[in-house]
Amino acid sequence: MQELSRKNQYFTDSVIRRMTRISLGCGAINLAQGFPDYDPPKAMLDRLAEVSYEGPHQYPITMGAPNFRQALADKCGRFMGRKLDPDTEIVATIGSTEAMVDTIFALTNPGDKIIMFSPYFENYKAQAIMADCEPIFVPLTPPEFKFDPNVLEDAFKQGAKMILICNPSNPSGKVFTEEELKLIADLCIRYDVYAVMDEVYEHIIYEGHKHTYMNRLPGMWERTVSCSSLSKTYSVTGWRLGYAIAPKHLMDRIKQYHDFNTVGCPSPLMEAAVVGLNFPDSYYEEFGAHYAHMKQLFTGGLKDIGIKFTDPEGAYFVLADISEFRKKGQSDVEFCEQLAEKVGVGCVPGSSFFKEDVNDIVRLHFAKKDETLLAALDRLSSIREKMK
Ligand SMILES: Cc1ncc(COP(=O)(O)O)c(C=O)c1O
Repeated sequence: MQELSRKNQYFTDSVIRRMTRISLGCGAINLAQGFPDYDPPKAMLDRLAEVSYEGPHQYPITMGAPNFRQALADKCGRFMGRKLDPDTEIVATIGSTEAMVDTIFALTNPGDKIIMFSPYFENYKAQAIMADCEPIFVPLTPPEFKFDPNVLEDAFKQGAKMILICNPSNPSGKVFTEEELKLIADLCIRYDVYAVMDEVYEHIIYEGHKHTYMNRLPGMWERTVSCSSLSKTYSVTGWRLGYAIAPKHLMDRIKQYHDFNTVGCPSPLMEAAVVGLNFPDSYYEEFGAHYAHMKQLFTGGLKDIGIKFTDPEGAYFVLADISEFRKKGQSDVEFCEQLAEKVGVGCVPGSSFFKEDVNDIVRLHFAKKDETLLAALDRLSSIREKMK
């Protein structure tokens, strides 16, 4: 039979989603794949119930239902400090995942180089390879996850087409400061590079930190694509509603990829989501406060158990140090499998996020009900005894 695609050899299936299957298989509390175990806002569910009888149920307008795009333009424009045109600057996609894929395909040609920071969200490498692009990794050094501007500039000098930035970052929890983003923006302008921002955690920012939208910085609107989604902000990861925001000259191209990739987003879900997008600012304040509470609960518990971790500035992950618990010769993947089986908590091996050789880090998320987090902490308190 004919040879299958060669690209697959450069990436595996998603380790994050594999850890979810393993957690389910052994009854572990799944702190691997980041999704909440509490309900989305009731007003959105009430509207969804109505829509189930009222419709719409047929194909949507490909670029997203007009009222959904208008609500996105209002909400995102408010936070970005810019009036957005729902017809020319926004496309609704199947999660931020599709927004990223469409953008990478629309802005690159085979052989182009894409700068990304390491640790990185595991989708990025696979998405770059699917588009026949080559990733260039720039390290973010723990525990503060700072980058060396000279190393970054060297990456730009290699003729990169695009830089892909997760802000706030999964898995590191880094929130890029305005100064850091300005430095990156200067490089983008000087070396004629596009900035593709993954901003799905834009509303999960902890005290002392602030989210800056790259497309607000001088000279950056023209060359920035902001990808985000409703998954995290409204606790609807399964609705698969995301979007890209970009200037018309980029958006025209991104839309073409969307059109043929997925045709459109689920009509009834867009309709129900409009309710969430129209929430007042107080929703985002309460949402942020809820995450601050979960972070406090979970990291406080880890401290009590004596598990070392990096304190996130945003998003809902901690990177925990497993050097004390990992057996000699055991890989971090094996460690995570055993942790799920013996301790009953699912997490993600750090090696799936780092370009560097990393074995002593795992990622845990805390987007869970208090009782789930307390149960997970209770199980983790036996880690020394059970992982011997
Ligand atoms: C950084 C980051 N980007 C994108 C996604 C996927 O988002 P969506 O559900 O909108 O496709 C995730 C999900 O975990 C994520 O962590």
